[in-house]
Amino acid sequence: AATGKGNYRHFMEKELHEHPVVIGETLRQYVDPATRAVALPPLPFNPAIVPRLTVTACGSAFLAGLVGRYWIEGLARIPVEADVASELRYRDPPLAEGGAALLVSQSGETADTLAALRLLRAGGQSVLAVVNVDESSMARESDAALLTVAGPEIGVASTKAFTAQLSVLACLAIGMARARGTIDAVREAALTAALLELPGHAAVLLEDGATIHALAEEVAQARDVLFLGRGNLFPIAMEGALKLKEISYIHAEGYAAGEMKHGPIALIDPAVPVIALCPSGPLFEKTASNLQEAAARGGRIMAFTDALGAPALRRFAKHVIELPTVDPFVAPILHAMPVQLLAYHVAVLKGTDVDQPRNLAKSVTVE
Ligand code: G6P
Repeated sequence: AATGKGNYRHFMEKELHEHPVVIGETLRQYVDPATRAVALPPLPFNPAIVPRLTVTACGSAFLAGLVGRYWIEGLARIPVEADVASELRYRDPPLAEGGAALLVSQSGETADTLAALRLLRAGGQSVLAVVNVDESSMARESDAALLTVAGPEIGVASTKAFTAQLSVLACLAIGMARARGTIDAVREAALTAALLELPGHAAVLLEDGATIHALAEEVAQARDVLFLGRGNLFPIAMEGALKLKEISYIHAEGYAAGEMKHGPIALIDPAVPVIALCPSGPLFEKTASNLQEAAARGGRIMAFTDALGAPALRRFAKHVIELPTVDPFVAPILHAMPVQLLAYHVAVLKGTDVDQPRNLAKSVTVE
C-alpha cells in the first residue's frame, strides 16, 4: 500500500527512493512537456512589476526557501528577503507596497508559518504558498498555491518533500525571470533541460548505496561535523547539518564556505569531518581554496563534486565523491540527495529511531 514501508526498513529509506518519481511528477506540473518551457498557473502578483518578495518557512522548508532566494534574485532579479517564520512574525518587518510573499511548507499546517502567512496578508502582501497538502490551511488561506507532488511523507525528517519544493521553486524562478525578460528562451531551455535530467541522476545516485555507506561509517564516529557550501549550495550545507543532527544526534553545523575562517576553523582537527558541496562552476575555485585551508589544519575533507572538480580536490581531500556534472543552477537539488542519504545511513549505524527521532514532530502545529 502507498502508506506502508514496502520492502524498506524505514519510511525515510522508502521516501529517499521516491526522489526520481517525485521530482519527475512535480516537474511535470510546471514544465510543458511539448515545448519544455516553464508553465506556471496564474500567480497572485505580477512578477514583471513586483518590487520585493518575502520568503518564510520553518525547518527544511525554510532552507528550500533560501535556495529559492538565490534562484529568484539571480535569474529574475527581484530582491528577496528570507527569514524563519518564528522571527518574521514578531519582527514587525516593513513590507513593500505591492509586495509578495512566498511560503514553503510540506504540511501546510506549521503554526509559525501559518501565523506569518496571516501577518503578511494583513500587511497587504500577495501570498503564494508552496505546499504538499492540497487541503491544508496554508493552501486555503494563501492567494494561490503551487503544489509539490511528493505524496504523503511519513518520516519526520523531510526528504522527497524538500527536493519537490526545490523543483517548484526552480520553475517559479524561471517563470518569473521570463515574465521580467531577464532570461532568454535559450537559457530557459537549458535550465529546464537540466531540471528534467534530475530524475535520471537521482535514480543512478540511489543505485550506488555503497559509496555513501562507506562515508557514513566514518561520519558515525564523529562528535562534530562541519558542512560547507557557497552560493545556492550554502542552504544545502545547512540542510545536510540539520538532517544529520535531527536523526543521528551528531552535532553538525552548516556554514558558508567563505565564513569558515571567521569561526568554525577553530574547531577543525582530524576528528572533525568537513563535508563540502563543491561542484564545478563559477564558485568552485573559491570553495576549493577554503577546503584547502581546512585540510592544511588537519581537517578530514569529504567533498561532493563532479568529474570537472574532482582532480583538483583529490590533491588534498580524503574522500572525493563524483556526482554527475550539471548546470550549477540545479546543483542544490542534486546535492540535497546525497546529504540526506548520508544522514540516513549514519542514523541507521547509530541505531536511532530514524522515522521518529526524539523530541521532534512531523508537523509543529503549536507555537
Ligand atoms: C518539522 C519537521 C521538519 C520540517 C518542519 C517544517 O520541524 O520535522 O522536517 O521541515 O517541521 O514543516 P512544514 O510542514 O511546514 O514543511
